[in-house]
Amino acid sequence: MKSLTPFYNPYISYEDNYAKGPFGLFVQLNKTENVPTKLTKFLNIEVNLPFGIPAGPLLNANYIKAAFAYGFDLCVYKTVRTKLHKCHPLPNILSVHAKGKLSSNLDTVLADTNYDQPLSITNSFGVPSFSPDIWQQDMEDAVKSAGHGQCVIGSFQGTEGNGKIENDYALAAKLVKETNAPILEANLSCPNEGANKLLCFDIDKVERIVNAIKTAVPDRPLILKLAYFPDDERIVSLLTRIGSIIDGLSVINTLSAKPVDAKGNPALGENRKEGGVCGDAIRWAGLDMVSRLAKFRQEMELKFVIVGVGGISNSEHYRQFIGNGADAVMSATGAMWNPLLSIEIKKTLNKII
Ligand SMILES: Cc1cc2nc3c(=O)[nH]c(=O)nc-3n(C[C@H](O)[C@H](O)[C@H](O)COP(=O)(O)O)c2cc1C
Repeated sequence: MKSLTPFYNPYISYEDNYAKGPFGLFVQLNKTENVPTKLTKFLNIEVNLPFGIPAGPLLNANYIKAAFAYGFDLCVYKTVRTKLHKCHPLPNILSVHAKGKLSSNLDTVLADTNYDQPLSITNSFGVPSFSPDIWQQDMEDAVKSAGHGQCVIGSFQGTEGNGKIENDYALAAKLVKETNAPILEANLSCPNEGANKLLCFDIDKVERIVNAIKTAVPDRPLILKLAYFPDDERIVSLLTRIGSIIDGLSVINTLSAKPVDAKGNPALGENRKEGGVCGDAIRWAGLDMVSRLAKFRQEMELKFVIVGVGGISNSEHYRQFIGNGADAVMSATGAMWNPLLSIEIKKTLNKII
């Protein structure tokens, strides 16, 4: 498989990537190809192809402009917060050798800097954010840069310790709305109060957060970013509580694992024994979550859209996610290492249709 320079450089800090990136082909914005597609609707917005890049790799407006130029039509601006939040030190990204599928049971996996295809990586950033006076202006610029059939989604999250968590989510949503982002995405797949579980598994809290966001910003579609749910029971209870209030669900975020070096020591450092894994090894979980959500959406007569994420690196993966019930598809790891991914998918789909 061909190897292109990733548009995010894993060897330098997040701050340097923010200031100097994007890299590789994403630097050359005038050499791209416009592949014609049939317009389709995503949450009532016209898009060329419901395909793009999820929250994370697109750090700021420069990254978003490059992604739009390369035909990624749905671009999520990396998760922001209501206050400055520092990034974890390097390493933030390592290649992970999961030997096939990664389980959802905190597997131990070898991690190093051999970024071989098919690629899986661990990412450990701690969801950094600049303060709103910096990111709001930049997000507004990114929103304006969308071309015909393209759209920016503003991702945000609340922070524990900033008062009631639902109020911080609501404030973040209001700040994102002020940038004119047409769609909001709340990241709920972050750790919950230091406990070894994720916020999206705490259904009471999710309901409070969703209600607070919808009260603060009633006039923008709201997508929730969720982790992989191993059991159906919890999906049903989540959908029962918020399925008719929200507009979309984006699945999945990373699967947690224990990345170790060749000697068996924690590869991200002694105080970061666990890391989220994304890329090829988690595609099974993304596909599984999409098909289960689609099934319950139908059974419960709900209308939310499903954004399929996890290990997508070619047009066949795109088609599998759409086939399982996704209304839109996004790729983080696959797109980072192949900036031509959207162009390739569009060309292949044109041949098939
Ligand atoms: C470098 C990087 C940073 C990420 N940061 C975020 C983030 O800030 N918020 C979020 O909701 N997900 C974040 N993610 C998770 C992705 O949105 C996505 O859910 C995950 O990577 C699975 O997709 P993939 O297999 O295509 O990489 C990040 C992923 C990567 C690779």
